[in-house]
Amino acid sequence: SHLRSTDIRTDNSPLQIFVKAKKKINDIFVEIEDYVQDTVGFMKSLQAERNIVTAEEGERVESYVDKVHAIRDVLKRDHMKVAFFGRTSNGKSTVINAMLRDKILPSGIGHTTNCFLQVEGSDNGESYLITEGSTEKQPVQSVGQLGHALCKEKLCESHLVRIFWPKEKCLLLRDDVVFVDSPGVDVTPNLDEWIDKHCLDADVFVLVANAESTLMVTEKNFFHKVSTKLSKPNIFILNNRWDASASEPEFFEQVRAQHQERAVDFLSRELKVYTPKDAEERVFFVSAKETLQARMQEQRGQPSHNGALAEGFQTRYFEFQDFERKFEECISKSAVKTKFEQHSQRGKHIATEIRQTLDEILDRTQKMKSEQLHVKKEVHDKLNYTEQQLMLLTQEMKDKIHHMVEDVEQRVSKALSE
Ligand code: GTP
Ligand code: MG
Repeated sequence: SHLRSTDIRTDNSPLQIFVKAKKKINDIFVEIEDYVQDTVGFMKSLQAERNIVTAEEGERVESYVDKVHAIRDVLKRDHMKVAFFGRTSNGKSTVINAMLRDKILPSGIGHTTNCFLQVEGSDNGESYLITEGSTEKQPVQSVGQLGHALCKEKLCESHLVRIFWPKEKCLLLRDDVVFVDSPGVDVTPNLDEWIDKHCLDADVFVLVANAESTLMVTEKNFFHKVSTKLSKPNIFILNNRWDASASEPEFFEQVRAQHQERAVDFLSRELKVYTPKDAEERVFFVSAKETLQARMQEQRGQPSHNGALAEGFQTRYFEFQDFERKFEECISKSAVKTKFEQHSQRGKHIATEIRQTLDEILDRTQKMKSEQLHVKKEVHDKLNYTEQQLMLLTQEMKDKIHHMVEDVEQRVSKALSE
């Protein structure tokens, strides 16, 4: 029961930084789209008038409708992406299953992962998969069936199969985390292709290492390549299968210290992605297999272990939870920065451009008005009306859009400084 209470996740999960920022920026772009549309409508009515608005100005403002729409489409699809790499059989698929709290991905003998598998949340409680190059949803009823479906496909190792799993079944999926499982880094000659295809938009990488051996050159090489293409990737190192150490308690401390030192050295001195002190915080000693078992037990309402588990289970289980907490903080901050900062800059740019155009038109109207003071009253009134509308519209743009975009910027910088 002690374990279960620490395991309950509430909505003060660090993932909410991303979830809330996403909602806010989506709302803002809905409003921006409304304003752009209003402006277009107004400009059209002015174009009908004599020479107040040029055709070119009209087109320019109208082009923002598509731009804003495109940004909204991207925003809707934005998520947090974590990719798992490591040598074959180190337990990559098991780690993902442990985080998802269920045996979703096939793992173990005869279930070697032979292409990229992306697990993401689906709405309406549906489970299905979509293979690369297809749009057909293949329903998946069970894990066994998923394994079968993956075997029967003729898949190339760098291909991607997207697995959609009901959001309600896992908080991480609900909060827009997307998991990418990979074949062992030791089985491919195509690391560059892997990186270009699957890694460039990843927010976090997890190296699943085997605590029974030492970090391998193939594993290191992979991350060296990643860090040439991405500046300062976020990397966690899981020394998995740490339960195996329980059988040799006399070497336990020594082995742990050695793994820790090598992992920290790799992250700080070799890859130069963290200081040695920060790197310490990125290395964990866990057992994915035990964690998964414990969680499946809990899900069935049974105690997380039956007493027959290897010594040190509790500590390893806590360390896995500690990893998850740090992972959540890291991924949500990183995703807010990489995904939303750009959008908020573009939103601000669009707002500024439109304002400038409206200011120019306002200026022109005022000039025309003073030049034509002596002409017919009718024309004079028309210009007066236009001027008023423009004043209102620019004022609104000024106040609202700017406020909104600045608000997002503040959120982004707040998330970054936190
Ligand atoms: P590939 O897909 O073949 O590259 O392997 P993988 O890295 O996905 O490993 P997978 O999750 O399939 O695990 C391989 C085997 O190791 C399975 O039989 C797991 O049950 C076992 N395993 C995974 N994690 C642990 C662990 O922490 N401790 C122990 N003892 N066994 C584990
Ligand atoms: Mg696997």
